[in-house]
Amino acid sequence: MCGIVGYLGKRPAQPILIEGLKRLEYRGYDSAGVALCDGTRLSVVRSVGRIGNLQQRLAARGDDPSSLGIAHTRWATHGEPTEINAHPHTDASGRIALVHNGIVENYASLKEFLVGEGLAFRSQTDTEVLAQLVGYLYDGDLASAVRAALGRVQGTYGIAVISADEPGLLVAARKGSPLLIGVGDGEYIVASDPSAIVPHTDRVIYLDDGEMASITADAVRTVTLDNVPVDKTEARVELSLEQIELDGYEHYMLKEICEQPATLRNCLAGRLDVRDGRIQLGGVAAHLRQLATSGRITLIGCGTAWHAGLVGGYLFESLARMPAAVDYASEFRYRNPIIEPGTVVIAISQSGETADTLAALREARERGALVLGVVNAVGSTIARETDAGVYLHVGPEIGVASTKAFTGQLAVLTMLAMTLGRRRHMSIGMFESLLHGLSKIPDAIARALEQSDLIRGIAARNVERNNWLFLGRGLNYPVALEGALKLKEISYIHAEGMPAAEMKHGPIALISRGTPAVFIATRSEQYEKVISNMEEVRSRGGRLIVIGNEGDKQVSGLADEFIPVPEVPEPLAPMVNVVPLQLLAYHAAVIRGCNVDKPRNLAKSVTVE
Ligand code: G6P
Repeated sequence: MCGIVGYLGKRPAQPILIEGLKRLEYRGYDSAGVALCDGTRLSVVRSVGRIGNLQQRLAARGDDPSSLGIAHTRWATHGEPTEINAHPHTDASGRIALVHNGIVENYASLKEFLVGEGLAFRSQTDTEVLAQLVGYLYDGDLASAVRAALGRVQGTYGIAVISADEPGLLVAARKGSPLLIGVGDGEYIVASDPSAIVPHTDRVIYLDDGEMASITADAVRTVTLDNVPVDKTEARVELSLEQIELDGYEHYMLKEICEQPATLRNCLAGRLDVRDGRIQLGGVAAHLRQLATSGRITLIGCGTAWHAGLVGGYLFESLARMPAAVDYASEFRYRNPIIEPGTVVIAISQSGETADTLAALREARERGALVLGVVNAVGSTIARETDAGVYLHVGPEIGVASTKAFTGQLAVLTMLAMTLGRRRHMSIGMFESLLHGLSKIPDAIARALEQSDLIRGIAARNVERNNWLFLGRGLNYPVALEGALKLKEISYIHAEGMPAAEMKHGPIALISRGTPAVFIATRSEQYEKVISNMEEVRSRGGRLIVIGNEGDKQVSGLADEFIPVPEVPEPLAPMVNVVPLQLLAYHAAVIRGCNVDKPRNLAKSVTVE
């Protein structure tokens, strides 16, 4: 999704802005641009496609010493991904430039007003309306003009604005779209994501919703949009460059798949106490009593996070014997959900910025629910707007297709379900055996990863098939959904995930000779039934690609392709079983020549509804 970088300081801004944009590339974009101010005038350079295209255009202009600038990667919402629609946008005079993440919902009426005032528009974007409005209201004080303009805007925004008439000033504001200010030595870097500032500083000021900052060489002045001064404190970004970089892997996705034993250890560290037979989730400790007595738990999320929620729902029911509903965040919000006293809503999100999830949790809070977050990005909006929560601690996820965040989400939800189970009815024996099993999951994942070469071969033999089915029952049903989603997302192969038993109610018609059917058939309560479903596919000519437990002769004897994984306690199996599916999607995408880390049309963090 769109990214913002802005710079004010002593160094040439251009290389810093470009480097920052590159660090935001993973969020997904389709065009990019830069505006630089040399003290007397603005120059704007934009281009469609990759940042490399923008760099070529900038290089053709020669060195630019300007030490004030803003830059943007755009993911089209209003208007095609063209150069004209790319940010930065300027006002009518060409002396004010603005970059924007989010959506100006009342842009049509604002545009009509500005056209009535004699202004002409070049682009189809909502952002140009905002730039032109700031210019229209400008009378020598940029901060006031921005504040006045935002007062007329409905919608969401993170913006950065500069003016050639005030070359020592960078104005930033946020409502519903993240923005932070990196504080360096005599310089400031505004960004929509901490990864853009990490190479320069670890000191950061997070703007909150409804706040605006006027940044000059020696100070950051922060006010609310009503111009009430706000005292902000600096925080530290705990994100190292090595964490962000590829670390020798060909793709971020592969790196993130392979680091799951380590990321899960990190997620469990300090929380699982196998010796004393305890789980400590500090973030939610104060709310455990309310949680354990809640009459209704609803888990919400989008995409992969929703799949994690489905697993969580099963676990709350089976381990804690609590009624749990799972909903897409986007549906929950508009469904007029039932929130009674004691309702707990758990919002699951890797980025902590997904607009649908954020809107849903706000709705839930408004109606009186206790809202907990299961979030990866520390300090993100969802993390800050929930009543309490548990961080994943799996490190930044750069690959657009979510992998290590999924296993982290499962680990956190499992710990929560076990904690509640123990408080309600779970025997100490069962609790301790699950606790022990959970502590061994990182090793089990490491064993599953050893099958990468075998899985590459399976992908190579089946990659030409354009329709795949992913099937599992019980806890492995959400795993099947996640496997299908991974394949769709990065290799553009059509895939459907479903409960294995549902197949016979329609999708079985899709099976013809050679149709790949990926079964998750590890030992479980429904093991025998899954085997029957495999027989149904085989007898219709489908090709069985099966994930089963190591040494399982019955399943491997039936399968055309067999991927062994270690056997772990059934409630914990999704964390292990999903790993071969991540690898299968990864290898299929690489073989098909797809851009694994930046799949077409997708964004890492979807900050529009
Ligand atoms: C986007 C991503 C998905 C992700 C979903 C939810 O659609 O492409 O990979 O699962 O958003 O993101 P979140 O950051 O809230 O987990």
